[in-house]
Amino acid sequence: MSNSIFTDTLKGIKTERPPVWFMRQAGRVLPSYLKLREKYGFRELMLQPELAAEVTLLPVKDLGVDAAILFSDILVIPEALGMDLKFTDKGPIFEFPLRDIQNQIKNLKPDSSKLEHIYKALDIIKQQKPEDVGLIGFCGAPFTTFCYMVEGNSVNHNFSNAIRLFYNNPELCAQILEIITELSIEYATTQAEHGIDVFQLFETHAGLIPYDLYIERILPYVKRITNAVRSKNTPVIFFPKGIGAGISGVNKDIADFVSVDWQMSMNDARTLVDGEVGLQGNLDPRILAIDNKIQLEKELEKYLEFGKMNQNWIFNAGHGLSPDNKVENVKFVVDWVKKTNWNRN
Ligand code: CP3
Repeated sequence: MSNSIFTDTLKGIKTERPPVWFMRQAGRVLPSYLKLREKYGFRELMLQPELAAEVTLLPVKDLGVDAAILFSDILVIPEALGMDLKFTDKGPIFEFPLRDIQNQIKNLKPDSSKLEHIYKALDIIKQQKPEDVGLIGFCGAPFTTFCYMVEGNSVNHNFSNAIRLFYNNPELCAQILEIITELSIEYATTQAEHGIDVFQLFETHAGLIPYDLYIERILPYVKRITNAVRSKNTPVIFFPKGIGAGISGVNKDIADFVSVDWQMSMNDARTLVDGEVGLQGNLDPRILAIDNKIQLEKELEKYLEFGKMNQNWIFNAGHGLSPDNKVENVKFVVDWVKKTNWNRN
């Protein structure tokens, strides 16, 4: 395991400041990434282990973050189940989304060889990364993966076909969730065997359903994945975006850390979540698009008290970076977190 403020925080060891990294830090905002994208397609960058390793480490060099997140995508799981995926200007698109499910479900067959290049990338990153930088592995959580498989794209942010199926046919929905979960367990535990420091499970679309239903019908699958990873002595961060007060259901049986979205305050999250579970978050990433550093710093200063009182906290945004975020703002935040006296004792 790497030895750093990041891994110390994960282990519950006191540190002088919170570690900092960003979801989607590798793509989207970095000039060095955009330059590579002129030469290579997104898929090429993901598929070639040397290139994926290079992109994974760009934010470490360019932003000074404390951890690198594997450069890949959550949709590699449906792809490894045999679904045909294209990354387009409008985002990811599945050519044959699950609509005639009774018939299509039998075609969903896991092909683990389609994930091999990702494990190779992890091995290269491990060799190349600085010792004090953490390595984060990830995969999509079952509900978000299900939403993409049924909807086929994210153009319709309501994922109405997926939600209709969720209510209309719980048994069929459960069958799909089971298939996703099985392969996700294999994928996640193999990442753990390749030496990641922590595993993050992205449930980006948790907020599409009422949280009591999320807890009842989805969280058991999440728990199977997270506990399989934890059985490999690898800690887990769970990001249930939009879960609201349902965050109180994310206890220590589910995850070691929970990533808080920007809609909820860190103090509310701290009150709602089991004290043994660490928190991550939660700057509104849209602040990173402004051109007023004074306003930006004002937003950051709101974290001073929380960071003083809470050791088990990883600084991050409340969702991923987006292309309109300014790289100099992201760098400003990283520098600010590092140079601030957090007055911890
Ligand atoms: O720093 C990183 O970017 C880490 C690697 C990473 C990507 N996707 C690369 C990517 C991670 C962790 C993801 C997760 C992911 N992918 C999620 C969950 C997290 C979240 O941010 O909500 C989701 C829902 C996806 C699916 C996906 N992939 C979408 C909706 C899109 C298009 C819109 C977008 O966010 O850019 C992608 C494409 C994608 N995944 C890009 C990158 C760098 C953009 C590709 C490009 O054109 O360069």
